[in-house]
Amino acid sequence: MLFLILTTLLFIWTFYDLYWKRRNFPPGPTPLPLFGNLLEVYYNCPGYEAFRKWNKQYGSIYTYWISTLPVVSISDYETLKETMIKDGEKYAGRWFFADFVKDFKGGEYGIVNSEGDLWRDQRRLTLHTLRDFGMGKNIMEERVMVEVDFLLERMAAQKDISVQNEMDIAVGSVINGILFGYRFDESSEDFVESYLKEWERRKGTRQEEYFFERQLEALVFDVWSAGMETTSNTLTWAIVYILNHPEVQQKIHEELDRVIQSDRKITMADKNSLTYVNAVVSEVQRLANLLPQNLFRQTTEEVTLNGYKIPAGTIIVPQISCVLYDEKVFPEPYKFKPERFLNKDGSLKVFPELVPFSVGKRQCPGEGLARVELYLFVANIFQKFRLSAKKLPSIEKSMSVVVIAKPFTCQAEERHQ
Ligand code: HEM
Repeated sequence: MLFLILTTLLFIWTFYDLYWKRRNFPPGPTPLPLFGNLLEVYYNCPGYEAFRKWNKQYGSIYTYWISTLPVVSISDYETLKETMIKDGEKYAGRWFFADFVKDFKGGEYGIVNSEGDLWRDQRRLTLHTLRDFGMGKNIMEERVMVEVDFLLERMAAQKDISVQNEMDIAVGSVINGILFGYRFDESSEDFVESYLKEWERRKGTRQEEYFFERQLEALVFDVWSAGMETTSNTLTWAIVYILNHPEVQQKIHEELDRVIQSDRKITMADKNSLTYVNAVVSEVQRLANLLPQNLFRQTTEEVTLNGYKIPAGTIIVPQISCVLYDEKVFPEPYKFKPERFLNKDGSLKVFPELVPFSVGKRQCPGEGLARVELYLFVANIFQKFRLSAKKLPSIEKSMSVVVIAKPFTCQAEERHQ
């Protein structure tokens, strides 16, 4: 009797797990009870190969399971364009563990974990404020250049430079400067001050409802944390890859010597003339591929994908890591080849598939600032120094919030005495 009950239960469980719960989702890898497909991601740490394999096996749209949660993944650029870009509103929700966010942030505030009108309003404000900082007097460039100077000084003073540490200090200080400002003279209006001014302007109107202290705290936390790890680790990966490819460092130096012809600092005004440096930064972002699994979104209304009706509230992820390693667009995707971003005539080649900042309505609002930082730090480090390492840094990735490099040090020799 007991045997019959157990067999029946096992049958029901298997039927439910392998067929019933999956029947309305695009096909994907078979989930294990409790784990879903997590083990396969874990055994392929940091995960790229699991997602790429499923992409090849099931096509661009497939479902995998994080424990008991279905995640619909979109993994090639064309499909991302048809869905997240052309039909953006339907994919603009954010999925998160509500209890965790409540404990951590006091509610669904900020940008990363907020939704609906509050998210829309506060995201727009953030974009406008950051954009204004990048225009006119260009507070953004000024802030970054202050930290470029400090970084170069610290590097020159050290025998063995702990790269990750230095990048954390530099990038953290840029965001700190932008959010809170260091000086209080007229030219350093910071993000928080802009927010408070806008709050004042909206006093007494219906739109004041999006302005309260908890929201400001969460917003500042989001901009700080989202902008810190991503940018500082990309810069660390830049040093890892360039140290492993001395010919790339040599070409950067050649370009800087040919175009700049002095030891002066590199500024944004030089950007269009430094094609090779730009190609290197693009290739670093592509190969570093910081988020093997991108942040989860959720559908805001029903969508139809490959004939499957996906209800509102389903987790959906623009799997940008598969696009950045798509061998049809970027042959030999695990190789560091800045030349892939150059046309035959030496001009910069633009790929819409280069999507490290993601796509659609949730695309990274810090992209402008990040681009300024990556370019100015990389160009100025190599303008001033020739870097070497007693032991070449490993290109192997470990998983943290984003993929991180193993700790390493390097040495810096000044190029212009
Ligand atoms: C190399 C640097 C960076 C990379 C690669 C990067 C990448 C990303 C990615 C992939 C997302 C997720 C988008 C999605 O849901 O599909 C994101 C979101 C976000 N990023 Fe960045 N980011 C970088 C720098 C920054 C900086 C400097 C800031 C702030 C100044 C920032 C602020 C944010 C915020 C607030 C979000 C959430 C947007 C939303 O949910 O509406 N990021 N970023």
